[in-house]
Order: sequence, then structure tokens, then C-alpha cells
Amino acid sequence: MKENNIKESNQEDYKELIQAALEVREKSHSPYSHFKVGAAVVTGGGKIFTGTNVENASFSATICAERSAFVKAVSEGEKNFRAVAITSSYNEYVFPCGVCRQFMTEFAKDKDIDVILALGVDDYKVYKLSELIPHSFTLK
Ligand code: THU
Repeated sequence: MKENNIKESNQEDYKELIQAALEVREKSHSPYSHFKVGAAVVTGGGKIFTGTNVENASFSATICAERSAFVKAVSEGEKNFRAVAITSSYNEYVFPCGVCRQFMTEFAKDKDIDVILALGVDDYKVYKLSELIPHSFTLK
């Protein structure tokens, strides 16, 4: 975990967040799909938490990189997130799966989250979570 690496003043500069996602991608446990995914989430206070996909022989037990990162952050007491960067071992922009989109909406009720699809630190696209999942499930 790195603290205060992304300040309010340069919140549009996601290089450091993408770099963290690229690094954690190499820790992927993906012997079945051979598809490595790395995700890094930054909190409102600038802390970065990373996660990778962790596959299981019972395929449905697999957890995606995005949820790994959020679970680590929430487990450390964080609930306010500014952005998440996603990288993969394929040379294409990887969108979060539907389950991860729904999962992330839990923490985007007050403020939208930027979803950064990155090929490299200088090659990325930014979406709002709300545009990737416009009608998420909520419990009133
Ligand atoms: N995967 C992710 O980590 N994130 C996604 O949003 C989509 C899929 C992983 C799960 C599995 O280990 C591999 O990619 C192939 O589906």
C-alpha cells in the first residue's frame, strides 16, 4: 500500500495508479485462463490498493482483480474511492465484468468512480462507473 501518492491537485494524472495495476498484474494466479489482470484503486485520501485475479480449479470460485483490490481496501477501512485502473496481459482495453461493475457500485453511491482501462501509463481510456452500469441493483 502506498499513501498519499495521488493528491487532489493532480487527480487527472493516473500514471501512478496505472503503474501499480501493471505491477500487480504480474502476481496474477491464472493457470487456467492464462489471462493476467491487475487492478489498482485509489481512495479519496490518495491511498492505493492493488489486486489481481485469483483463479481456482473450481472456476466459479475465481475472484477478479477489481474485486481483489476493493476487498483489500475495504478490509483496511476504506469506503471512499476516486478511481480504479485495470490492466491485462492482452494488448487491449479490458472492461470490468458485470459482477465487478455491480460490486463497485456499492462504493459509488455518493460519488462516481473513474474506471481507467489501461494498456500503459500513457495509453488509457477513462469511463465513469455510472456509464458502464447505468442501472445497478440497489436495496432501498
Ligand atoms: N477477470 C478479471 O480479473 N476481471 C474482469 O473484469 C474480467 C475477468 C479475470 C477472471 C479470470 O481469472 C480471467 O480474467 C478470465 O476470465
